[in-house]
Amino acid sequence: MRQDIKETIERLREEIRRHNYAYYVLDSPRVSDAEYDELFRRLEQLEREHPELITPDSPTQRVGAAPSDGFPTAVHAIPMLSLANAFSENELRDFDRRVRKLLDRDDVTYVAEPKLDGLSVELIYENGILVRGSTRGDGVNGEDVTANLRTVRSIPLRLRSINSSTPALDEARFVEARLVEARGEVFINKGDLRRLNEEREKNGLPPFANPRNLAAGSLRQLDPHVTATRPLRFYAYDYGRLEGIEVSSQIKLLDTLATLGIPTNPLRHICHGIEQAISFYHEFQRMRADLPYEADGIVIKVNDFASREKLGTVSRSPRWAIAGKYPAQQGVTKLKDIVVQVGRTGVLTPVAILEPLRLRGVEITHATLHNEDEIVRKDIRIGDMVIVQRAGEVIPQIVGPVIERRDGSEKEFVMPTTCPVCGSDVVRLPGEVARRCLNVSCPARIKESIVHFVCKGGFDIDGFGVKLVEQLLARGKISRVSDIFHLMRDNLIGLDRMGPKSADNLLRAIEHA
Ligand code: IVH
Repeated sequence: MRQDIKETIERLREEIRRHNYAYYVLDSPRVSDAEYDELFRRLEQLEREHPELITPDSPTQRVGAAPSDGFPTAVHAIPMLSLANAFSENELRDFDRRVRKLLDRDDVTYVAEPKLDGLSVELIYENGILVRGSTRGDGVNGEDVTANLRTVRSIPLRLRSINSSTPALDEARFVEARLVEARGEVFINKGDLRRLNEEREKNGLPPFANPRNLAAGSLRQLDPHVTATRPLRFYAYDYGRLEGIEVSSQIKLLDTLATLGIPTNPLRHICHGIEQAISFYHEFQRMRADLPYEADGIVIKVNDFASREKLGTVSRSPRWAIAGKYPAQQGVTKLKDIVVQVGRTGVLTPVAILEPLRLRGVEITHATLHNEDEIVRKDIRIGDMVIVQRAGEVIPQIVGPVIERRDGSEKEFVMPTTCPVCGSDVVRLPGEVARRCLNVSCPARIKESIVHFVCKGGFDIDGFGVKLVEQLLARGKISRVSDIFHLMRDNLIGLDRMGPKSADNLLRAIEHA
């Protein structure tokens, strides 16, 4: 009996791991979310009934550890280096010239990869089990953040055992992968960061300025439960020590790590000579607006490891790699006005209304100003010409005013002392940067809570959006969240773009919720 259960549990774990591999490494899910969740629930249930069978590498054991009071130092057996930067074609050609001179040959193959904007970490697998995860720190001494890295869903807790056929690779070498130190970047997708920041601003918390801050902040959380709520991702691109596996080039390294179940970026480009790498440098600059993640450039690496060995390192950077970066995208435009929005929890957020400006192909008309302290600190005034920047950040930032272009007509912004929507007094609670409207019946708060409730992240009711909430409120059909469950067909028909059919669909969706 017990043996049966043990086998069932192990089978479920293997199945979940296979789905994780298909999802995070191959990027082609084999099952629906519902089917996956069902497997996961069954495993959790069995483990609840038989806690003695729980092992730390079970897919259910990502968030287990209790909050810690600090992070022990993690010494990297092989230092984690940083990269030298190039900002132009010519600097890339200089790099290539040095490489060819030192190698004493002209045909060099490079691999170009996106330079992910996050935090670099090292994962150590001993006999296939994740035993330590750490930040880069100063390159030699990082922080042991194993408990937090375990919560990152794309990081495998154990490596895949290689018994399936892997034609491109020498299987015999894998089976005994005793030690694998995989290095790569923890990052977040732009859309996830946007959603997370919206949520934070609504709750009066300062938003993360860029993916790097978010990744660093999340991995240095003392409570892994908090890290687990952040939609972090991981791609490997480098290695430390390897024992029981041999790899001879960057391309083989990436393939090998992926075969072991460690996600790597599918976007990688083999370049024969620097000119091909330069073409990719330009091509990638145009591509990156459409990528799901932030990348502030590309990394160009000598493919062949024997050549890397010859090239060596100078002052913490390898001679075999270089980061090709793009200059920050900045522009100057007029700050027409600062308006104040009231969120679901009553937090007042100042928003900059800008004279439209195009940066990196995107039209910018608004920028968040976060809070009043930020406006004072940067001395931003209404009517100012301001420097707007998008450089690795998702939300456009206002760098500051162009003081020389002031003509005296600019006005200082004063945060309202009453709610701009309902007129109630606003308060700034001790320890918070935000002011809040405390009136629970404030129409802005009601609207935002209803929107939050019906939209994605809440009940996710199909067809229920901001516009519909606004109309229903304006016509007095609803005045609080629970009213949406009492809506009738007649309340809906006749609203904008709402015929009998859409009304029925919506009612069904509400019913379902
Ligand atoms: S290779 C020194 N590849 O850039 C060789 N680094 O300044 C190891 N980074 O600390 C790094 N994407 O955080 C490499 N595809 C990539 C990368 C990458 C981002 C970061 C990494 C590193 C920094 C170097």
